[in-house]
Amino acid sequence: MTHILPSMPTSRPSGCPFDPPKELVDAREQSPISRFVFPDGHHGWVVTGYDLTRSILADPRFSSRRELMRHHPVIDYGDIEVPPAPPGEFLLMDEPQHGRYRKPLVGKFTVRRMRLLTERVEQITAEHLDAMEKAGPTVDLVTAFAKPVPAIVICELLGVPYEDRGFFQDNIDKFLGGEASDEEVGIAYVAVQQYLAELVAAKRANPTDDVLSDLLDSDLTDEELQGMALILLSAGFDTTANMLALGTFALLQNPDQLAALRADLSLTDQAVEELLRYLTVAKQFFRVALEDVELGGHAITAGSTVVLALNTANRDPARFTDPHTLDIHRQDGGHLAFSHGIHQCLGQQLARVEMRVAFPALLNRFPTLRLAVPAEQVALRPEIADIYGVKSLPVTWDA
Ligand code: HEM
Repeated sequence: MTHILPSMPTSRPSGCPFDPPKELVDAREQSPISRFVFPDGHHGWVVTGYDLTRSILADPRFSSRRELMRHHPVIDYGDIEVPPAPPGEFLLMDEPQHGRYRKPLVGKFTVRRMRLLTERVEQITAEHLDAMEKAGPTVDLVTAFAKPVPAIVICELLGVPYEDRGFFQDNIDKFLGGEASDEEVGIAYVAVQQYLAELVAAKRANPTDDVLSDLLDSDLTDEELQGMALILLSAGFDTTANMLALGTFALLQNPDQLAALRADLSLTDQAVEELLRYLTVAKQFFRVALEDVELGGHAITAGSTVVLALNTANRDPARFTDPHTLDIHRQDGGHLAFSHGIHQCLGQQLARVEMRVAFPALLNRFPTLRLAVPAEQVALRPEIADIYGVKSLPVTWDA
């Protein structure tokens, strides 16, 4: 019998801020896929099982095209027609359009290229730790460290001037933070688009040494480059920023894991993968069935939107032993925090470099790092935010 999820959960009632909503975990215990009616009446599905999520992500019968899918699992947007993604915004496209934009970028985000960046990431990290030390011994880790470090890294990579960083941080927070009104999101989007149009024109006039300038010789139009830059900027910093802040919170709340990591920093790479799995900040993505598909005994009709709950799939006991435990010694890899298939995160090696540098540097610099407020007072992003995380994380240490 088909399991039905009455509505998409809007909070995390389980008492642990790092766990996916209990309703999704309970749904997965019934079935890896549940029926779910969107607020506008559309009959869709939510997938919570690991194997099924992974196979849908790799299945070309499921599309990422924005214009085909329902848009929000909680808010009712009625019958509004959403146009196709603008040129260059390849996250919301299928092949062959998607590949036209992704291919020229792949070589710029390889493991080797990102390793070369490590030294610069170390410098940026150290500068922020110095500033934190001066400002402390109590600071908000989000504004002092977790946001600015990845913001500077992605701005430098794309050739966005340093002084414009704050503008991006603020506007991208509005897109992804889940708290701005539709009007504010619209204004932020237009402001960023205008800025990027000017940036691309400036690079054409005066190319510099960065990813955007490197693409000027291709057959991509300025409008396409602008769309690609938007995807890179918005995907590239809020996710990493939230991993750094929420990851620190999770370590502080799991003192045995924190102590194990402090005692042996060679476990950092493993700890980063485990934090990615455990927290899955990019928690949900949508796909739409392009044809009738039979999956796990369920008939998914063409046109149905399928919500892929990556955070719940990453807690599937059929795939991960003791999935709700943060265990930095875990051996069972293969998490879906960077997704899978053609849209698998392009910037994952960059994100890994940033986290592998930032976590040990932070722990080394502040051996007595702890929360400055009771854990229940840490302000979390609302569940409807696209990217989960903490709004601020007051921390302190022995000066
Ligand atoms: C810990 C940090 C990050 C997480 C958790 C994350 C997660 C994800 C996920 C889940 C997707 C796939 C969405 C889907 O399947 O529809 C994705 C796509 C993408 N990410 Fe990341 N990401 C992170 C950091 C970055 C960084 C640093 C960049 C820098 C450039 C980046 C650039 C992209 C791009 C361009 C895409 C679109 C890929 C495509 O459609 O082919 N991400 N990311």
